[in-house]
Amino acid sequence: MISTARVHRLAVIRGDGIGPEVIDASLDVLAAAESMFGFSTEVTEISAGARHYLATGELWTPALQAQLRSHDAILFGAMGDPAVAPGILERGFILEMRRTFQQAVNLRPIKLYPGVATPIAGLTPERCDLVIVRENTEGSYVGRGSTVHAGTPNAVAVQESVNTRMGVERVVEFAFRLAERRGGTLTLCHKKNILVEAGTLWQSTVDELSARFPTVPVDYVHVDAFCFYLPTAPERFNVVVTDNLFGDIITDLGAAIQGGLGVAASANLNLDGSGPSMFEAIHGSAPDIAGRGWANPVGAILSTAMCLAHLGEGDAARAIEAAAVHVLAQLPATAGPGMGFSTAELGREIASLLQSGAPVSAVPGYSVMDDLAALR
Ligand code: IPM
Ligand code: MG
Repeated sequence: MISTARVHRLAVIRGDGIGPEVIDASLDVLAAAESMFGFSTEVTEISAGARHYLATGELWTPALQAQLRSHDAILFGAMGDPAVAPGILERGFILEMRRTFQQAVNLRPIKLYPGVATPIAGLTPERCDLVIVRENTEGSYVGRGSTVHAGTPNAVAVQESVNTRMGVERVVEFAFRLAERRGGTLTLCHKKNILVEAGTLWQSTVDELSARFPTVPVDYVHVDAFCFYLPTAPERFNVVVTDNLFGDIITDLGAAIQGGLGVAASANLNLDGSGPSMFEAIHGSAPDIAGRGWANPVGAILSTAMCLAHLGEGDAARAIEAAAVHVLAQLPATAGPGMGFSTAELGREIASLLQSGAPVSAVPGYSVMDDLAALR
């Protein structure tokens, strides 16, 4: 008999700080989804992060790469600890993972969910429903540059931003396909009036690809203007494609508007099948609140849902999103002791709502959960 069981092999990197807490909550929700939606997962725990590095000196080893490569996807908690100098884990692990596995797109929805407090007075969920397509392997993140006369008054630091046609084209094409599915505008966000070389490459790529997507209106905004419009008029945007560093910065602003870093999710997508994609909340390890149960796991739980959507479990992904959003709407605060639930309790709350099969209102507006399987 041919087996029809759907088994997904997941590598799980809990990492440091609040990473393990938000991953534990996500795994509770994942287990509930498995029991409701008829698929199963094989989870491999990977030891990596600050403690592992301090004990072994290991970061992104060939053995680890081979192990991760044998999985269908990676769930990632967070990395970083005051005991490790800034940059070691970020550049030595996270960026290496994105680069080695060619996770070309970092997909980050900026969606204000109903009932979530936003610092922007009068903002409503209908007006804030966009997605950032962040280039994820190039730009200033390539780590190229040099310093001469370091530590002297004559020091010269050069930090390069590398943009390849191939790297730009693949994210622009992805963004067009996403905009086509959402029936929305594609906006290029850059600083082409100043960064003329890179900006021209980005704009000409958008212009050329636009011919293949005649139904998608195209727009352009400078990144500084984007930072003005995002809080004041987010309804101007639907799909926004942008450079790696701009995308890093504007998605923290987006997280603030959508209710905090604890709510914001992301997918680091490999587009050519050459390696696994990776799913992580956009927050860091937050060592200051680690171990207290104050972290909001919803960003990690929504990232887990994006992982399931990517693996073809769209129904489970949509149900997780709806359950998480239902619980989120009841919280008096989106993080910290004021949430009224600990991180673990929130995971259990969302898991048991999912498992109860109780009807929960569908999430209004666009959902990337509908797009991820189709955009592989
Ligand atoms: C993010 C983070 C990372 C980045 C760091 C931790 C390397 O800020 O995912 O947004 O700069 O991309
Ligand atoms: Mg960031």
